[in-house]
Amino acid sequence: MYKTIIRNLLFLFDAEKVHHFTFSLLKIVFKIPFVESVVKARHIVKDKNLERNLFGLKFKNPIGLAAGFDKNAVLFDELSNFGFGFIEIGTVTPKAQEGNPKKRIFRLKKDRALINRMGFNNDGVDAIVKRLKNKKTDILIGGNIGKNKITPNENAVDDYIICFKALFNVVDYFVVNVSSPNTPNLRDLQEKKPLTDLLNSLQSENSLKKHRKPILLKIAPDLTENQLLDIIEIVKATKIDGVIATNTTLSREGLQSLKKNEVGGLSGKPLTNRSTEVIRFLSEKSNKAISIIGVGGIHSAQDALDKINAGADLVQLYTGFIYEGPKLVKEVNKALIN
Ligand code: FNR
Repeated sequence: MYKTIIRNLLFLFDAEKVHHFTFSLLKIVFKIPFVESVVKARHIVKDKNLERNLFGLKFKNPIGLAAGFDKNAVLFDELSNFGFGFIEIGTVTPKAQEGNPKKRIFRLKKDRALINRMGFNNDGVDAIVKRLKNKKTDILIGGNIGKNKITPNENAVDDYIICFKALFNVVDYFVVNVSSPNTPNLRDLQEKKPLTDLLNSLQSENSLKKHRKPILLKIAPDLTENQLLDIIEIVKATKIDGVIATNTTLSREGLQSLKKNEVGGLSGKPLTNRSTEVIRFLSEKSNKAISIIGVGGIHSAQDALDKINAGADLVQLYTGFIYEGPKLVKEVNKALIN
């Protein structure tokens, strides 16, 4: 029903408006008695074989919702009923910010893709912490952190530390996002020196805590092989817990849709192979020493299996969830059991 009726209807309207409309609708619908249990019964797959123990955390299953979907941590309780093993909120910045002017999300239907140039629009870390304090779901929550647009790269560390400290007691793991293409110069922080400094600063802060939290680095799919080799070195040197590969791409290779010239990051099907390639490269070149969350263009169970076979320990989806519908989470989980 999703792909035949609901998606066709939703795709008639502006993508960002549809996102907010769906969020409001789900908020209301989940207040109706029995809705939660019906949605759970239809989507959640429980099986010991799906459980994963990684960086000291126990995941009920290895399929997560990627960052950017519930940026402001307003719907993670409701979304947990669709069968995810974990949900990543954010990217969160210290201060609230509007992001780029609208319109800033574009559907490339022929390519089963999206281009977005949101620019870290979010309510700011304090508002988001308040919401997470009222968490009801028992699935794991990741906190994806970034810097405000007005903060120059020289002071970026301060922004990441502010978010890290504020979110520490309300998330299960952290993701350092230096790979969004939509905040000017953010990706420069992926260079060896600034990245090592940033991760070392976060690790110092982490070591002050009684029980440290896992820290992962989210990288772009557009890094060269040499840059990826640097990433392996940096992960080892800073002793962070793993990598999320990958964020959206600046590449426009092989696209058919007319909207391909919109500025921003491309996600969805055209990203599938490149992100799997990055996962395989990191896994092979590190001799499987790095934990990897694979994300980018998972639209089918096979896409998820390909990423896991390439070396991903867990996977996440975003664009596939929009194009294929919530059934995708169950399909992937079922395929993993088999
Ligand atoms: C994203 N993504 C993203 N990533 C991130 O680390 N912080 C963010 O705020 C966002 N925001 C965001 C908004 C929109 C509209 C999209 C489509 C994507 C990237 C996302 O988490 C994921 O890495 C990529 O989209 C690739 O996965 P999919 O979408 O191909 O499954």
